[in-house]
Amino acid sequence: MKDTTSGSNAAKRSQSTAMREIIAERVKRRGFLLGSAAGLGAVAAQGFVGSLFAGTAHAQAAQSSLGFAELARVLDHDAHVAPGYRADVLVRWGDAMKAGQEPMEPAMMTSDDQAERFGFNCDFIAFMPLPKGSQGSDHGLLCVNNEYASPNVMFPGVTWDNMPDSLSDEQVRIIDASVGHSIVEVKREGDRWTVVQDSPMNRRFTMASDFAISGPAAGHPWMQTSYDPAGVLAKGTHYNCAGGVTPWGTILSCEEGAYDTFGGTVADSPHAAVLERYDYDGSDYYGRTRIEPRFDLAAEPNEPNRFDWVIEIDPYDPDSAPVKRTALGRFHHEGATVWLNSDGRVVVYMGDDSNFEYVYRFVSDGTFDPANPETGRNLLDQGTLSVARFEADGTMRWLPLVHGTGPLTPENGFADQAEVLLKTRLAADALGATPMDRPEGMEANPVTGRVYANMTKNKNITADNLNPVNTRPENLYGHIVEMIPPGTPGPETDHTAEVYGWDLFVLCGNPQAPEHGARWHSETSESGWFVNPDNLTFDPRGRMFVATDGANEIDLPDGIYGVDTEGPARALPKLLFAAPVGAECCGPCFTPDGRTLFVAVQHPGEDSESLETVSTRWPDFGTDSLPRPTVVAIQREDGDEIGT
Ligand code: FEO
Ligand code: CA
Ligand code: CA
Repeated sequence: MKDTTSGSNAAKRSQSTAMREIIAERVKRRGFLLGSAAGLGAVAAQGFVGSLFAGTAHAQAAQSSLGFAELARVLDHDAHVAPGYRADVLVRWGDAMKAGQEPMEPAMMTSDDQAERFGFNCDFIAFMPLPKGSQGSDHGLLCVNNEYASPNVMFPGVTWDNMPDSLSDEQVRIIDASVGHSIVEVKREGDRWTVVQDSPMNRRFTMASDFAISGPAAGHPWMQTSYDPAGVLAKGTHYNCAGGVTPWGTILSCEEGAYDTFGGTVADSPHAAVLERYDYDGSDYYGRTRIEPRFDLAAEPNEPNRFDWVIEIDPYDPDSAPVKRTALGRFHHEGATVWLNSDGRVVVYMGDDSNFEYVYRFVSDGTFDPANPETGRNLLDQGTLSVARFEADGTMRWLPLVHGTGPLTPENGFADQAEVLLKTRLAADALGATPMDRPEGMEANPVTGRVYANMTKNKNITADNLNPVNTRPENLYGHIVEMIPPGTPGPETDHTAEVYGWDLFVLCGNPQAPEHGARWHSETSESGWFVNPDNLTFDPRGRMFVATDGANEIDLPDGIYGVDTEGPARALPKLLFAAPVGAECCGPCFTPDGRTLFVAVQHPGEDSESLETVSTRWPDFGTDSLPRPTVVAIQREDGDEIGT
């Protein structure tokens, strides 16, 4: 079971997914050995083998509905896409977003310049059609999270080990201007997508941007700072990982944990217990306290409480104020996928991306009327946040995080609903939620209504703390959980129900390596199986596309894999796109016509110690080119629908 009582930072860190640990794994991946103690025995011991592929016709030749010739898997300095397809560079780190801007010159970059250019480490992507309300597929706003910065491939001489001392103050400011979110107007002309450089809709959000705070925690004493005594206006966003799109034309951008942002001694903070539960370590990893005192825990003890939320942005109004919506809880938010229930209530599925953390759901109190989009404006401020508990009998229950119910009382440290939200992880602990193997992307299949949750991996899970839905010790390869609301598939699917069913969709890893304990469709190819599912999406026909993050550790590229979730080819994956070395794939996003798939290729070359030994200069490949996080547009050569 999860150790929720450990007071040791080191012990906590060993359970957390601090960015440094993730990056360190990438850097040392060449020495990684495949063998692990995980295996089918552990799965069998849990008794789930029989339920894994019920309904899958293993004996008959499966016909994947995904009509493309699979890419032969290769890990090298370049990106690769399946035969008959193309993957064009659309927008890269540093690309111009204002009229008159010249191409980026990294050596000349200033923080003011970076704040008006496309950000670093692209992650979540939303394509928001123009005009607003249309289902157009040739013109829109591309809304892209910029999760964090990789200074080792941005600045000469900088390594992960010599930071932050190796960074100048201006480089720290550039980093803070490179993260957050970028909105760019894009157009397809002929068969090419381009950025509208001088669009008035282009917009950046950075660590200097203002965010309104709404919902139950707005104005709470813990949210008040010296520069915002009312506790209603936060400054900055970063670690923006995945996200979501609302039916009223806004996007949700998720803050995935500011734990290494602050400097000082956590134990001396008035919020020490909470900060430790949220993996804060006082390391000030990027050197931010040098440039802004608010990142000093002693100087501004409430500042951390204003991060780790879900942000709502209206991309169609360039003057709109972005909002941190506290009703959606405070944790390491991976994504926030939105489902409009048949009764008009809005449901948001969210994962907390750390080892042994939880799966969450928010259900709005009010309802959305598509005929009146204004009804969505503040819908995410009032509703019920719940956390998932998975049972061994194949059911799962949503446990409400509501102040005054069960253990969520003042006697147990929850004075009001604001405190339940500010301490979401602690409240979920108290309710007995199921610890998961790092919940990343979650999406509902638009055709069936079933919800899929990617568990990317959890090397710290042991035979002693397995549970019904996390079944492999030292889970290095991850798995995908299928959550089944009552009524699926069908028009009466109820995403507000207290009890769902669940199944294990796939157990990732190499099906030819028994020690992986992988479970796929029996006809899975040598290039088709994958590890470390991160984000996912569905095409208009309800086929799943998974983006992976972590395959370089076993000398495979991260990529985009199409997978049927229904029919005889259920759980049969096919490789469509492979990223260059060092990069993960993120944010897969289709245009409404299914003819373009946008993919964020994040942190190419980040596995390098520094620019002096960089492993790839993708996508430009000039002698002095830097590797650049890039959104690519994948299309069929003949322009037809992807996967048909
Ligand atoms: Fe930012 Fe959970 O990956
Ligand atoms: Ca992710
Ligand atoms: Ca990840």
